[in-house]
Amino acid sequence: MGFWEKRRVVLSGGNGFLGSFVVERLREAGCTEIHAPHSNEYDLREKSDALRLYKSLRPDVFIHLAATVGGIGANRANPGRFFYDNAVMGINAIEAGRIAGVEKFVCAGTICSYPKFTPVPFREEDFWNGYPEETNAPYGLAKKMLLVQLQAYRQQYGFNGIYLTPVNLYGPRDNFDLESSHVIPALIRKCLEAREARAAEITAWGTGSATREFLYVEDAAEAIVLAAEKYEKPELVNLGSGEEISVRDLVESIRSLTGFQGGVRWDTFKPDGQPRRCLDTSRAAEFGWKAKTSLRDGLRKTIAWYEDEVGKKLRTRAV
Ligand SMILES: NC(=O)c1ccc[n+]([C@@H]2O[C@H](COP(=O)([O-])OP(=O)(O)OC[C@H]3O[C@@H](n4cnc5c(N)ncnc54)[C@H](OP(=O)(O)O)[C@@H]3O)[C@@H](O)[C@H]2O)c1
Repeated sequence: MGFWEKRRVVLSGGNGFLGSFVVERLREAGCTEIHAPHSNEYDLREKSDALRLYKSLRPDVFIHLAATVGGIGANRANPGRFFYDNAVMGINAIEAGRIAGVEKFVCAGTICSYPKFTPVPFREEDFWNGYPEETNAPYGLAKKMLLVQLQAYRQQYGFNGIYLTPVNLYGPRDNFDLESSHVIPALIRKCLEAREARAAEITAWGTGSATREFLYVEDAAEAIVLAAEKYEKPELVNLGSGEEISVRDLVESIRSLTGFQGGVRWDTFKPDGQPRRCLDTSRAAEFGWKAKTSLRDGLRKTIAWYEDEVGKKLRTRAV
């Protein structure tokens, strides 16, 4: 029997963007006992709910993806909620897992926890060498404390918890709400709407000089499932594509792939966020993972998915 065929898996955030792909990947790997409850069944900010979840669903493996997330705008508008929710959900999920004696706990961290001026490519050894970029520090630090908790629990209780640090994700089923979305879905939506409206320009945040790295969501899901099976160490692991791109070049790519022919106005009153982001992803080779999808292919698939979704909504409204 394969590893996943005999394990019962519970995912927090399993109905979210990344979670839905992790569920699919687990199924492909042969897992038949997968539970992805919603936050209205188990609100992980409540310790009693976290305890109840383990008691009712009895996971062998718990994959913690629940989070309160968003782009720079959402982070800036809700620093308190982003800190509290992310810290307390993780703390409760790990503590309840320890009490229940879960076999393995997999925690999704974030690149936002890295120091603002980390040398590129970001190596795991540099994780603690400074304070994160201010706009996402409350979110990044809340999640960073979960690494401390997992390492402390491993030391004191022999708790088998691992911690993975993905870069910015993108792909089908992402959040395209302009109030809370990340940069790629926001730009895709703006370009497609501007194309349809034959608008002269779109507005993009910041100066365009910051750089980012993006990981296609299916590649991230594959990494999580592989690490859950094969990685057993206390040290964090970066998950990225290794492809660094300036926001200006990203806008150009999305503009050309969406067929929007107008211009771009840079709103320089809006923040750029962290100046540079790109991970060293060599440690993930320890569990046999490397990203497969190029940014261009990933963007193509994401745009095609979003256009299809918009088309479906329009057809439903017309009926
Ligand atoms: N998206 C990225 O670019 C990115 C990058 C790096 C790391 N990550 C990490 O990857 C993970 C997944 O992110 P995502 O983008 O997939 O987020 P998402 O789509 O917003 O999904 C988050 C999930 O968290 C659940 N959740 C929220 N509050 C909860 C609560 N109080 N109790 C229980 N569950 C709760 C939600 O469940 P309901 O729908 O049932 O409410 C939702 O399904 C997060 O840990 C995030 O920090 C994401």
